[in-house]
Amino acid sequence: MVELGAQLAGVELRNPLVLASGVLGVSAGTIERAAESGAGAVTLKSIGPKPRAGHPNPTVLEWGCGLINAVGLSNPGMEAGAREVEEAVRRVKVPVIASVFAGDAEGFAAVAETVAAAKPALLELNLSCPNVMGEHGVPFAYEPGSAAAVVGAVKARVRGIPLVAKLSPNTHLLSGVARAVEGAGADAINMGNTLGPGMIISLEARRPVLANKAGGVSGPAVRPVAVRCVWDVFEAVKIPIIGTGGVSSGRDALEFVMAGAACVGVGSAVAWGGPAVFRRIAGEMRAWMEANGVSSVKELVGAAHG
Ligand SMILES: Cc1cc2nc3c(=O)[nH]c(=O)nc-3n(C[C@H](O)[C@H](O)[C@H](O)COP(=O)(O)O)c2cc1C
Repeated sequence: MVELGAQLAGVELRNPLVLASGVLGVSAGTIERAAESGAGAVTLKSIGPKPRAGHPNPTVLEWGCGLINAVGLSNPGMEAGAREVEEAVRRVKVPVIASVFAGDAEGFAAVAETVAAAKPALLELNLSCPNVMGEHGVPFAYEPGSAAAVVGAVKARVRGIPLVAKLSPNTHLLSGVARAVEGAGADAINMGNTLGPGMIISLEARRPVLANKAGGVSGPAVRPVAVRCVWDVFEAVKIPIIGTGGVSSGRDALEFVMAGAACVGVGSAVAWGGPAVFRRIAGEMRAWMEANGVSSVKELVGAAHG
């Protein structure tokens, strides 16, 4: 028998596949479908301090090798968001990860404290959204000091819920950022968010397709970059990693595990294949492990590092 069970900062998962933040929103009903379709854990869309409409449509485009999106962090704000988290925690049978964002470290701490009251299994800090700028006009996850300041502020206000720092592939300081968030008290790292920003232009309209013009790139095209980022983070820190970016098959997921991921995020593949992708990906992982004499996925974490 092949064992797919995984552990993330003390939280037990029946399999390592985690619904990535954003693709299915914050409503408990949709999130519940991902859990019923085989996800090991589910992440809600990022919740911020105030209700936000997000960018005008079109906000998401399937462009051939993945998605490009500029949703603009549309969300119901922290009070209504916390109620959604509470309902998800009550209804969903697998660990629920709540995701939060804000414009500064104190804002993050306030949203995190409000959302933590709904008792999610883990709290993810979206330090890497291309739409929210920290110091120096770049996302928090681009710089060790900014990223650590957010994690430290949240750690001081939220007790008893493990913190996941969601990082970005778009920085040349990645190892330093990973070490900084670990040092500030992060219990795990999600590596990571979308690549870019990128742009798709319609020849006919002679204009960028997204209303926001540029957006974050995800799906199969970003996978090699995301795998390399997981590799670098695994070399830099001891805390567990959720590897995210372009996973749509069991082989893709195992590639992230061998690079160092204890768990694997799935986003864009759910957007185009529906929640059924979780059962298929888990089945493909199991089949590869059986064929290759591997009894537990935990044995493969970081296996490519030799
Ligand atoms: C439509 C869409 C919305 C997203 N919204 C969020 C979000 O609210 N918070 C967040 O941390 N990541 C968000 N992401 C990023 C995903 O969680 C994930 O990190 C990224 O898409 C890479 O994984 P993938 O290639 O499997 O999609 C979003 C991605 C997409 C495609």
